[in-house]
Amino acid sequence: MMKMTLGCLRRKKHPKDGVKPSKISAITAYDSLFAALFDPYIDLILVGDSLNMSFNGRLDTLSASMQEMLYHTKAVCRGVQRAFVVADMPYGSYTNEKQALKNALKFYQHTRADAIKLEGGAERAHIIKTLVGEGVAVVGHIGLLPQSVRGVGGYKITGKTPESAQQVLEDALSVQEAGASLVVLEGVVAHVATEITTQLDIPTIGIGSGAGCDGQILVFSDMLGLFKAFKPKFVRSYLEGATLVEEAVQRYIQDIQTGHFPSEQESY
Ligand code: KIV
Repeated sequence: MMKMTLGCLRRKKHPKDGVKPSKISAITAYDSLFAALFDPYIDLILVGDSLNMSFNGRLDTLSASMQEMLYHTKAVCRGVQRAFVVADMPYGSYTNEKQALKNALKFYQHTRADAIKLEGGAERAHIIKTLVGEGVAVVGHIGLLPQSVRGVGGYKITGKTPESAQQVLEDALSVQEAGASLVVLEGVVAHVATEITTQLDIPTIGIGSGAGCDGQILVFSDMLGLFKAFKPKFVRSYLEGATLVEEAVQRYIQDIQTGHFPSEQESY
């Protein structure tokens, strides 16, 4: 199985002569079990700090810690042979260059992550530049920034006004200029995300940003329909995961109650 590298991801946007560009497929994973299921097929696995909500049942991503992100990244890497693995830098772990470098290096020293991701545009460019200068591959994340949800008072779609569209374009260019290898565009109005994708040399990965990006990412529990409480407009579930699990648990309980489980074949 050939390992996905930054070069492979880049060639999807800029293929060799005569080959058509192809889209990057990406998904989150927080453990080895799901990572191993996705690995043969998916290009990029993100150990997103969304695990704070999807895995840990917290209300937003802000309380995810470095220790937790390292733990989950190690677990994911154990399940991966092929996909490109990106680890999210948690909130508060990259407030200045020195702290960001110290924490980013931990992902390379203690896990097999291929890159780290951090949120923010022009205002974080100096941090990205420092990490890239020390040989760390960085994935930017601009547009709607979940780590800023309390600061800005909610999850806000960007690019709706000409000013906001200009700002997100400038953020994209700053992140690229600082040396990021890829950039996640979250919650960016579709035509603005398409324009950014056209202007950037590095690949864009969209979430809630329309079909014009170079790739797409979804949180795995949304993609598999495991999370029923709330479904944002941009989510498409490819499985009725929660319903299937509920039905399976009910059949299991029924078989226990009726004595149908375990059978003779399932006994020693
Ligand atoms: O944490 C995460 O899962 C993310 C994706 C939503 C891009 O950052």
